[in-house]
Amino acid sequence: KRQLTLALLKPDICASQKLQVRVHEAIEAQNIKIVSQRPVLWTKEEAGAFYAEHKGKFFYDRLCGYMTSGPFQALVLSSPDAIKEWRALIGPTHPCRARIHQPTTLRALYGLSDTRNSFHGSDSDETAKNEIAFFFPELSIDNLLKVQ
Ligand code: CMP
Repeated sequence: KRQLTLALLKPDICASQKLQVRVHEAIEAQNIKIVSQRPVLWTKEEAGAFYAEHKGKFFYDRLCGYMTSGPFQALVLSSPDAIKEWRALIGPTHPCRARIHQPTTLRALYGLSDTRNSFHGSDSDETAKNEIAFFFPELSIDNLLKVQ
């Protein structure tokens, strides 16, 4: 049985081809499959739609500025326990905390700040479904789940 999750490699990662390749290698080393990927360049409106739940928070403007600062990559990942496995691989939201408590995670290695934390991962089956549909409206979850 497999599970899907939505991963974002944020603009600071995608600014470097080398970093992007290293992250893909780290994903594959965990036996997590990349079943779909696309480059994304957001307008402020698109960023606002994806991060609607954070509107009004102190970091909202910074977050939208960061996510519209350049192209980033959206990935659909598949593994038996993809949501947990991807979140374990990226580590805690805040890179400074990640460096102390989980120094081998991707945010510990590459994250720049609380806002510029380099990665996103869906937090539940329900959000994974919605986030995959947001970035890949043309894809059917059932078909993606068949990809081994
Ligand atoms: P992500 O979990 O992908 O989605 C919400 C984003 O908001 C998060 O990554 C960070 O980029 C940003 N964020 C979350 N918490 C903070 C915070 N305390 N300060 C600044 N930015 C934050």
